[in-house]
Amino acid sequence: EIKGFIFDLDGVITDTAELHYRSWKKLADEEGIPFTREDNEQLRGVSRRKSLELLLNGREVPEEKKLEMMDRKNNYYKEFIKQITEEDLLPGAKELLDELKSRGYKLAVASASKNAKPVIKNLGVEHVFDQISDGYSVEKTKPAPDLFLYTAKQLGLKPEECVVIEDAEAGIEAALAAGMTAVGIGPEERVGKAHFRYDKVADINLDDILA
Ligand code: BG6
Ligand code: MG
Repeated sequence: EIKGFIFDLDGVITDTAELHYRSWKKLADEEGIPFTREDNEQLRGVSRRKSLELLLNGREVPEEKKLEMMDRKNNYYKEFIKQITEEDLLPGAKELLDELKSRGYKLAVASASKNAKPVIKNLGVEHVFDQISDGYSVEKTKPAPDLFLYTAKQLGLKPEECVVIEDAEAGIEAALAAGMTAVGIGPEERVGKAHFRYDKVADINLDDILA
């Protein structure tokens, strides 16, 4: 029996996937590294360090410079997220959260981002969640199941009682590895392994998932 819903943040509740992309793109341009929107698809849901490694694509860079680059990207990102307001909730996200809440489900965010808390605060949905797990909560990031397992535990739920909503391939893998029901948001190529798939959050059909 499903008792809780665990939401990814970036690309599910709000389109910060775009802001992460613009921040990496700015860094890549400054460094003369080619980086396209298509390349960025691989970075969805992936940690800051792993994202940098993917962007560097085999280029050798000293550790000190890597730290500086991650810091620079994060500063650009922090500038972007200052502007976030409740208008930046993706269509259907607030309605879905309110509906689940009124039906009595436990609700959580499980994001790989160390910036998740300020983003949720700016979106004005902090109070909706029973648990907010972020990039500080566990060591092993998605596609490891750790963040979702930790979140379920905090909610007092078993993995099989949880539904995960994710836009990233790494996130779907993590949800499946955790033994949870996985709902993918996005194209087949990216989230096709999920139990359910929708193009957009607004398309989610709760009755299908809960049946
Ligand atoms: C994930 C995003 O939620 O968080 C990734 O999908 C991002 O794009 C990752 O790299 C880590 O975020 P941050 O804010 O800690 O750099
Ligand atoms: Mg995401």
